[in-house]
Amino acid sequence: MTIDTSGSTDTSGSDSGSTHGGTTGAGFDLEALLAERGAERYRLHSQYLNHQLPRMLHTIGFDKVYERAQGAYFYDAEGNDYLDMLAGFGIFALGRHHPVVRQALHQVMDLELADLTRFDCQPLPGLLAEKLLSYTPHLDRVFFGNSGTEAVETALKFARYATGKGRVLYCGHAFHGLTTGSLSVNGEGGFKEGFGPMLPDTAVPLGDLDALARELKRGDVAALIVEPIQGKGCWPPRPAICGPPRSCCTSTRRC
Ligand SMILES: Cc1ncc(COP(=O)(O)O)c(C=O)c1O
Repeated sequence: MTIDTSGSTDTSGSDSGSTHGGTTGAGFDLEALLAERGAERYRLHSQYLNHQLPRMLHTIGFDKVYERAQGAYFYDAEGNDYLDMLAGFGIFALGRHHPVVRQALHQVMDLELADLTRFDCQPLPGLLAEKLLSYTPHLDRVFFGNSGTEAVETALKFARYATGKGRVLYCGHAFHGLTTGSLSVNGEGGFKEGFGPMLPDTAVPLGDLDALARELKRGDVAALIVEPIQGKGCWPPRPAICGPPRSCCTSTRRC
């Protein structure tokens, strides 16, 4: 298959020099494509993705054209560097293009692993789970997800299944993701507008143990979900945030 940068697609599989099931990607050159059409980035995003993002970036003067990134820095065509203090909301904790991450990605591609057969057990997930659990001795199994919101959705499902109860408690100013379950436990009402009805849930003010105890006593609570540092509004961590709610939940479960 050839992807023509003018927009049309040839699916004849007639590339010359094919070595891999009919294609080497002779007509597929991301570097050339970016050189030819990279300057259209803001228009493309406006037209085909989310028009509000480029609008906002133009308005606040963040409509830069970064040519490359390394570690904690972006670089533009003039060689100016920009310190990235957002880090993809935390997904670049190791910095961009970390050499070990690059090596791992290259190796996985080059090894041509039989991934995602769905009918075998690949060793790498097992090895990663083993390593992760060596840092978290209080846990004994790992569920891998693709995003934070998927992790939260899964936690909500596990909690409901384990308890047979439906309601989830969360704190004001919380952010747990934007899919429907995670959105239900979002502490900022604005995110939910127009997307209801949500899952049965109840917000308790952060740090209000009496409110938490009151809700737990109703006996229909599957879980309390709380971030040690609230996701929205830069709320500082409170020393007593995790211990007392944990004992509150544990004692309620026992009664
Ligand atoms: C505490 C917390 N949970 C969940 C999420 C959702 O993660 P994702 O954007 O990967 O779905 C975020 C995202 O910022 C978060 O801060």
